[in-house]
Amino acid sequence: MSKRFYVTTAIDYVNGQPHLGHAYEKVITDVIARAHRSLGEPVFFLTGLDEHGQKVQQAALAAGQTPQAYCDELATAWRSFATKLDLSIDDFVRTTSPRHQTTVQAVLTRLDREGHFYPDTYRGYYSAREETFLTEKDRRPDGTFDPIWGNVVELVEENYYFKLGAHQPWLLEYIEAHPDFIVPDYRRNEVLGFLRHNKLEDLCSTRPATRLGWGIPVPFAPAWVTYVWFDALSNYISVPADHGDPAVRAALGEALPATPAVEGAGPLSLWPADLHVIGKDILKFHAVYWPIMLRTLGLPLPRQILAHGWWQKDGQRMSKSTGNVVDPVAVIDAWGVDAFRYYVTRELDVGADGNWTDAGFQARYQAELANGLGNLVNRSLSMLQRYRQGRVPARSADLAEPAHQATQAVRMALAAYRLQGALLEIWALVNRANQYVDQTAPFRLAKDPGQASRLDAVLYSLAETCRVLAVLLWPFLPSTAGKIYAQLGLTGAPDRWSGAEWGQLPPGHTIGAVTPLFPRKDT
Ligand code: MSP
Repeated sequence: MSKRFYVTTAIDYVNGQPHLGHAYEKVITDVIARAHRSLGEPVFFLTGLDEHGQKVQQAALAAGQTPQAYCDELATAWRSFATKLDLSIDDFVRTTSPRHQTTVQAVLTRLDREGHFYPDTYRGYYSAREETFLTEKDRRPDGTFDPIWGNVVELVEENYYFKLGAHQPWLLEYIEAHPDFIVPDYRRNEVLGFLRHNKLEDLCSTRPATRLGWGIPVPFAPAWVTYVWFDALSNYISVPADHGDPAVRAALGEALPATPAVEGAGPLSLWPADLHVIGKDILKFHAVYWPIMLRTLGLPLPRQILAHGWWQKDGQRMSKSTGNVVDPVAVIDAWGVDAFRYYVTRELDVGADGNWTDAGFQARYQAELANGLGNLVNRSLSMLQRYRQGRVPARSADLAEPAHQATQAVRMALAAYRLQGALLEIWALVNRANQYVDQTAPFRLAKDPGQASRLDAVLYSLAETCRVLAVLLWPFLPSTAGKIYAQLGLTGAPDRWSGAEWGQLPPGHTIGAVTPLFPRKDT
């Protein structure tokens, strides 16, 4: 059983509909997952939903539903959203599923038995909206709390705390010794700064079920439920446990049901995760709490955490109350999933913050997709139809060098998660090929029978460049890549990196029907 490249996203709260920020994270993770698949590595890509907690309980109440019915309904919508985004996921986790709950309870049982929890009285100011206790530091100079916290009430309650303090030294050392553990480096520095200058407080890990019923019961204290982060973070191991992962089952085995719900394929080796992709706002939970939880369980740490930035719209924070939102479903319905995937990946480097504007989206669609890639494929293959009845002529290598260079550069960019950089390299090849059409002027060559073999060479180089582009594009724009392949009359998908090598389009082969990839739109 060889270990798979195991890549995860954050699991989204189900207290509303998916928005641009959720979609962005899933798309960039899918690009990374597909890039690894293309290179021939077995991959396991996990995403899903975080369904417990106060916010969901409140949203369900407001909708007049039980929390479970509310979650079930929304989960269906979110699951189809993953399909809409064309995500190549291998599983979809819901924290209300029995398989997840069993693992969370096994984790708590094990850690309690080994003395990692203690009860204590909590007294503090609590923001229900943000599901968090506030401290004196959160007060404004006039003594009030910022309205972003909503209604703040004083609470006194017994809870269970997870001991974090003792772990600070080794964690700091670990992060210092592993420069690639948290990327990009400016996010790593934030975590290091936090660990160097603050004393790690123990983590309040429960809530009394009387106040918050919507959670996983704590096995050693059934009047409490698990508070969100223990529940949420454990999804990264509950799914491996369910697939029979040997590492997770060795750590939690005796507390888990005897037979994992492995269907067909047999057990999978997944843990440790190779990559957790998350937003910058939840980095501390992933880079500080999660490694400590894993260490106490005797499990290896994830190999890497990639923290992406946040999107705004028109320079403002997105907010449902002001209507300043981007609805990814509406964009995809109007422009196609690949136009959406392209824009969010091309617009910013992973790590940086982004700003969505409709004008910017439309400009990239017209210039880079319709006039750039779309036009290249359309005119290259149309000329092959017109001048050679769709039959691929003898091999030529006019564009072999730029195609080879692009392939190398894209591969390097992908390995460093420079997804924007990879697209820039791909478009350098698109532009080079469009220039080649203008320079060689095949429409003029076609008028001169003496230039027949020159025209053959030009047409081969263009069609072959389109084929190489399909392979390079597949992780980013899988459906467009598939369409290019189909228009070339090739079967299967351009999902193998080895296909990017020049010269694989066989002379004599007949291409398929040619249609525009990105129809021009009047906006
Ligand atoms: N449920 C927790 C995560 C638990 S992970 C074990 C959560 N959920 S969330 O729905 O609020 O956010 C899910 C992901 O979406 C996070 O990684 C978050 O950073 C990301 N985004 C939410 N809004 C975003 C933007 N406006 N822009 C980019 N990403 C954003 O946190």
